[in-house]
Amino acid sequence: MLTRLPPRRHDFPVTRPQGGDAPAIEADHLVKRFGDFTAVDDISFAVPTGTVLGLLGPNGAGKTTTVRMMTTLSPPTSGTARVAGHDVVREPAAVRRAMGLTAQSATVDELLTGRENLQLIGDLYGLPRKRVRARADELLEKFSLADAATRVAKSYSGGMRRRLDLAASLVAAPPVLFLDEPTTGLDPRARIELWDVLRELVREGTTLLLTTQYLDEADHLADRIIVVDHGRVIADGTPLQLKDASGAASLVVTVARPTDMPAAEQILAKHVTDLRVDRDARRLTAPSEGVSALAVIAGDFTSAGIELDDIGLQRPSLDDVFLSLTGHAAEDSSNEEQPA
Ligand SMILES: Nc1ncnc2c1ncn2[C@@H]1O[C@H](COP(=O)(O)OP(=O)(O)OP(=O)(O)O)[C@@H](O)[C@H]1O
Ligand SMILES: [Mg+2]
Repeated sequence: MLTRLPPRRHDFPVTRPQGGDAPAIEADHLVKRFGDFTAVDDISFAVPTGTVLGLLGPNGAGKTTTVRMMTTLSPPTSGTARVAGHDVVREPAAVRRAMGLTAQSATVDELLTGRENLQLIGDLYGLPRKRVRARADELLEKFSLADAATRVAKSYSGGMRRRLDLAASLVAAPPVLFLDEPTTGLDPRARIELWDVLRELVREGTTLLLTTQYLDEADHLADRIIVVDHGRVIADGTPLQLKDASGAASLVVTVARPTDMPAAEQILAKHVTDLRVDRDARRLTAPSEGVSALAVIAGDFTSAGIELDDIGLQRPSLDDVFLSLTGHAAEDSSNEEQPA
C-alpha cells in the first residue's frame, strides 16, 4: 500500500498523464543487484496508458524487486524507469503523486475501522477532509465494504483486507497503479470479485502493473504479459501470443452417449490424424485443423445424429506455456533452494 511513503501535500485529485503516446509506465534495462546476486537482470517494458501489464513469475523471480524500483522504494543498480513520464530516481515525488501501490503483504491498520483506514491515508496525503470522506464512502461501496465500514479491520476476512488494501491505494485517485500479487491467499470467489474491480478501474482509464504467480490471473487481466524467471525476461507477449507460441490448439469432442463412441471415432478419423480416445470420459482429442474444419466436423456429427456434450478448440493453458518456457511449473519454487 502506498501509505508507508512519506506524507506530502498536493491538490486532489491527481491529474492523469497528458495525452501523447508516452507510456504511463516504462522500464529501460533495469538491473538490481544485492551484493553479488542479481535479482533483476536487464528488464525493459513499456505500459501504454489505460492498459494492464502482467509481470508473471515464480517465487524469487524478481517481481517485488522490480515493483520496488518502479515505485521509488529501491534505487536501480542501473537502468532507468519512468512513471507518468517522471524518472523514478530524479523525480521521486512526482512519481509518488501519480501512483498507488498495493504491496505484497497487507498493511491495513488492524485496530482502525475500514473507513478510518481510508481516512488515515487521506490525512497522510494532506487531502481535504471532506473530500476524503466522500472518496472513502465511494471506495467502501465499490469494494463491497460499506456494511463493514465501521468494523475494525481485525475482524475482516482475508479477502476484505485485501480489498481494503486496494481501496487505500486508490484514495488519492492515482492514474497509475502497482499491485504486487493482489490476490495471493484469496479464495476463488474473492479473487474473481477483485478481478472485476480491477477491470473496472482499467475501464475508467487506470494503468495497471500487476505481479502474479497465477497464470490464469495474468490471462484474465493482462493486455500483455512479461514472464520473468531468475530476474530475466523469458517471454513477452499477449496472453494469446504466449499460448500460441507454446503449441497448437487441440480439437476436443465430448460425445453425449457412450454407445456413439465408435461412430464418432469413424467420423473424426476422416478429418484428423493422431486421434486420441478416452472412452471413460467419452472424449476424443486431436491436433486442431482450425476453426473451418471444426464447423465441418460439427456438421458431420449432426448429420449422423450423434449428440455431443461439447465440441471446441482448446488452446494450451498458460501453465503449459510456463512449463515449456522454464522447464518447471510456475508454482514450483524448488529450483531456488537446490544446493549448487
Ligand atoms: N534486500 C534484499 N537483499 C538480498 N536479496 C534480496 C533482497 N530483496 C530480494 N532479494 C532476492 O532477490 C530475489 C528476487 O526477490 P523478489 O522478492 O523480487 O522475488 P518475487 O518474484 O517477488 O518473489 P515472490 O513471488 O516470492 O514474492 C530473491 O532471490 C530474493 O531473495
Ligand atoms: Mg514478491
